[in-house]
Amino acid sequence: MQTTDVLILGSGAAGLTCALRLAQAGMQCTVVSKSRLRSGATLWAQGGISAVLDAADSLDAHMQDTVDAGGGLCDPDMVRHIVARGPACIEWLVERGVQFTADPEGPQGSEPRLHLTREGGHSFRRIVHAADATGAAVESTLAELVAAEPRITVREHAFAVDLIRGNRAEGVIGAYLMDVNSHEVFPIAAGAVVLATGGANMVYLYSSNPHGASGDGIAMAWRAGCRVANMEFMQFHPTCLYHPSARSFLITEALRGEGAHLTLPDGSRFMARFDAREELAPRDVVARAIDHEMKRLGIDHVWLDISHRDADFIRSHFPSIHARCAELGIDITRQPIPVVPAAHYTCGGVLTDVHGHTDLDGLYAIGEVACTGLHGANRMASNSLLECLVMAEGAANDIQRRARQATTQPLPDWDASRVTDSDEDVVISHNWQELRRFMWDYVGIVRTDKRLSRAANRVALLQREIEEFYGNFHISPDLIELRNLVTVADLIVRSAIARDESRGLHFTINHPQQHSEAQWSIVSPVDGRAHLRPIAASRMAS
Ligand code: FAD
Ligand code: SIN
Repeated sequence: MQTTDVLILGSGAAGLTCALRLAQAGMQCTVVSKSRLRSGATLWAQGGISAVLDAADSLDAHMQDTVDAGGGLCDPDMVRHIVARGPACIEWLVERGVQFTADPEGPQGSEPRLHLTREGGHSFRRIVHAADATGAAVESTLAELVAAEPRITVREHAFAVDLIRGNRAEGVIGAYLMDVNSHEVFPIAAGAVVLATGGANMVYLYSSNPHGASGDGIAMAWRAGCRVANMEFMQFHPTCLYHPSARSFLITEALRGEGAHLTLPDGSRFMARFDAREELAPRDVVARAIDHEMKRLGIDHVWLDISHRDADFIRSHFPSIHARCAELGIDITRQPIPVVPAAHYTCGGVLTDVHGHTDLDGLYAIGEVACTGLHGANRMASNSLLECLVMAEGAANDIQRRARQATTQPLPDWDASRVTDSDEDVVISHNWQELRRFMWDYVGIVRTDKRLSRAANRVALLQREIEEFYGNFHISPDLIELRNLVTVADLIVRSAIARDESRGLHFTINHPQQHSEAQWSIVSPVDGRAHLRPIAASRMAS
């Protein structure tokens, strides 16, 4: 039987940081990725990482901005904890060799002095970045260190299918992994399992995310018996490139931070009609404003224009966006960029405590898969990578403290004795498309009771069909992802139906008001229903 001290599922910023922190403390671990080691949304991150590095800025201001963007649903203790660890985490990355954009005029205190940019919701320049490809700089550096670290075993192309539970006291004792090439499924035992599998944004037809963002960790934790929180708060990034040959290409919010304007086809700006902060309002506000204008005018996209800034500045600060747009015939130093909102970030997820610990002993959730309470009803830009770094460190510390050993009892083999080869894979591709299309149409930026109820009916139908398929045929990566996506869709729709108010990213025409009491939605595996609970009581067992 295969065994490891700590099994980390996912190799984005959260998984790699956790592995390096454990190795630093002398522990052995295994990092698993269903694709390459360098993978996940982290690799695609553009704008940067928020942290208070300028003496004129303050932790209080960062906390306040986060809470303001979060629509009243942030957990203040969690916000304080994560924001306070920001500067040390940036220092840790710099020590490990991440090359952030330097600025001789930047704030003192860090060496080298770093350039700080700005994004929506931030009242101050506090985003550390590597030009417009911050994620690639972080992911590449950490992946190289992980690959060279003898205490860390890397398993690429190994797909986590499900968690393995022991008895009640043991909690989670391992996972089933599938070799992506041979489709062989095998158990692996671990003292602790860390979910670092990222978000679920592929549940929507249009998304800024890489293909693998299928909510696997959320679905696995839910099936194993964990509570899941705030799933209705799916974030739509206001500005993804609109072009027939460019699916899923983000135009970073840092463009607006450096002065880019949103405009209509006649060249007029419109954000002032929606929010005094104009283009730098939080994402939920900007995405809704764009959606409103697109529907009002019957247009396919709006424009984002930075051409009034100096061309050398644009080329040096946004080299990747400049190059990608140039490939498509758009010169961003002279022309506006066609943009639309697209699904971007999963604010909800597996409910955790301050150490990333879930409801089940031995199981942690860190990064986008988790709901820590940092983001509330709407995540502020560049707070996600920050959360990955801080929660990964905290989970690594907690794992060392608890020092659980992997079981020596044999784990049950994967039972494939009653399944055969599928004769109709079209069921998978059809249902995949249908799910993402109706989630986009019915559970998108603007919701209604009727649309949500239509979505609930369709989710129920698809779930039945997919479970039947899953029970009868050999599994494949596509089938596992589809099964997980429909589970996540179900959690989103249940949570959205339970929230009879408009707050943050959840905007519904039938309930435009906001309740005076701020409550989280918690979906409980005990009854499968979403319950609204006051924030202070949210982590208590139901
Ligand atoms: P990911 O980086 O998504 O990694 C997930 C990992 O899990 C991958 O290795 C994947 O292969 C693996 N995995 C998934 N399922 C399985 C499974 N079943 N079995 C095995 N392995 C599995 N945030 C910011 O703070 N600043 C930014 O500038 C920023 N820009 C962004 C730009 C884009 C285009 C996108 C899409 C997101 C951006 N975000 C940004 C959000 C941020 O990048 C993500 O929230 C963050 O990187 C998530 O990191 P993670 O480690 O949780 O997961
Ligand atoms: C961006 O660069 O606009 C994305 C930043 C984020 O999602 O935090």
